[in-house]
Amino acid sequence: MGRSPRESPTATALQIAVAALPNNPGLSPYKLEGSYTTSPSANGVRVCFTGAPVQPCPPSNPCCSEADFYKLELRVRSVCRNAIRSVTVNGQPSVYPTFETYGPGKTNALFKMPRLNLTRATVAGAKICITLRDPCPNMAALCPEGDGSCTYAIGASGTCKCCPVNKLGVAPPPPPPLPPSPSPPSPPSPPSPPPSPPPPSPPSPPPSPQPPSPPYTGGFPFCNCDRAPNSMPFALAGAPSLSRGPTGQNLYCFSLQGSACRNASSPCCNSQLYKVEWWSYDTCRGSVRAYIDNVPYPVTWDQDGTFRLTKLNWSAADVAAKPRQLCLELRRDGPCPSIDRFCRGGACVYSLFNTAKDCCPTGTTPEAR
Ligand SMILES: *[C@@H]1O[C@H](CO)[C@@H](O)[C@H](O)[C@H]1NC(C)=O
Ligand SMILES: *[C@@H]1O[C@H](CO)[C@@H](O)[C@H](O)[C@H]1NC(C)=O
Ligand SMILES: *[C@@H]1O[C@H](CO)[C@@H](O)[C@H](O)[C@H]1NC(C)=O
Repeated sequence: MGRSPRESPTATALQIAVAALPNNPGLSPYKLEGSYTTSPSANGVRVCFTGAPVQPCPPSNPCCSEADFYKLELRVRSVCRNAIRSVTVNGQPSVYPTFETYGPGKTNALFKMPRLNLTRATVAGAKICITLRDPCPNMAALCPEGDGSCTYAIGASGTCKCCPVNKLGVAPPPPPPLPPSPSPPSPPSPPSPPPSPPPPSPPSPPPSPQPPSPPYTGGFPFCNCDRAPNSMPFALAGAPSLSRGPTGQNLYCFSLQGSACRNASSPCCNSQLYKVEWWSYDTCRGSVRAYIDNVPYPVTWDQDGTFRLTKLNWSAADVAAKPRQLCLELRRDGPCPSIDRFCRGGACVYSLFNTAKDCCPTGTTPEAR
C-alpha cells in the first residue's frame, strides 16, 4: 500500500501488459476518451487527455471494483526522456513523471505519471494535460506508433497490479472499427471547472457544423489526409541500412516494398504512390541528397522540416515486382550527419501519399542498427 511513486520494479504494469497484449481494458473502471486535444504552449504543445465515464466492473473482480486511478503510463520512444515539461490534473500541477527504459537494447520506454489521485467520483471529464517539447514535440513523435496514437495503461495504488492497456488518439478521419465503444453522444460536461476555456473536443460521429477540425492537429505530415497506417499497398521495410555513398558520405537506404493493405477494396489501397515524406529538421536542408536505385533523384523541402521524394508515380504492381531502394546521403560534416539526427523524434516518421494526396499512411521505421 505505502508504495512510493518512485518505485522502480523490474516490470511495471505497462511492461507486463504490453508483453501480454491484449490486456483487457474492460477489467478496469477507468479509461481515457479516445481522442485528445492539442494546443500550442510556450516552447511546445499541450496535449490533454480526458477521463471517460466509469465503466462497470465484472462481478467479483476486486482488483477492478477497488481500483483507484493512481497513475497513467504512456508507452513512448526511448529518445523522448526529456520531452515532457509538465503534467497537470484539472489545471493543478502534478509531480514530474518518471521515465524508464526497458526491453532488449532499452529501445522501449515509459513515462509514468503517479499521484494523479483520480477516483470513480472524479474521473469523468478530468483533464490530464502534458506539455511536450523537442525532441518529441507532439504525440506522433512521442509514441512509437508514430501516427499520433499511443498505448497507455492506468495503474491503481493498491496491491493489484492490474494493467488495463488501451489506445488513444487513433487516427481521426476514419472511425476506427471498435465495436464495443458506444461513444456517448452527450457532451461530457466536466464536473470540475476546466482550467482554461475548454477546447472544442468534437465527439466523432456527428458532423459538426464548424469547419472540419480533427482532434489531432498540427502533426506530421501537416496536411489534411488519412494517416491511418497500412492503407496503401506499400511500406518501408525495416531499419535503414548504412553504407558509404558514392562521394564518401553516409548513405542510408530504405527498401520500399509491396505490402498488404488493411482494406484491399478501399480507394487508398487502389492508388499509386505519388510521394514519400519524412519528418526532419529545416536545419538539415542542404546536407542531404537522394538516390533511387542508385540514380540521383531531386529532393524537396517544405514547412516544418518536411522532406520528400515526389512524383514517383509507382503502382502497387511496379513495386511488388521490383522493390525500390530509397537512399538518403547525409553529409558527414553537416548538421545532420546520421539518420537519427536527420529524422525528427528519434525513429524515422514517414508518410506515403497517393496521387490525390488524400491518403497518407504514416508510420515509423525501426531505428538504424
Ligand atoms: C495527490 O495526493 C497527494 C497526497 O495527498 C498530493 O501530494 C498530490 O499533490 C496530489 N496530486 C494531485 C495532482 O492533486
Ligand atoms: C473497405 O473499403 C470499402 C470501400 O471504401 C468500404 O466500403 C468497406 O466498408 C471497407 N471495409 C472495412 C472493413 O473497413
Ligand atoms: C507523375 O505524375 C505527375 C502528375 O500526376 C506528373 O506531373 C509527373 O511528371 C509524373 N512523373 C513521372 C516521373 O512520370
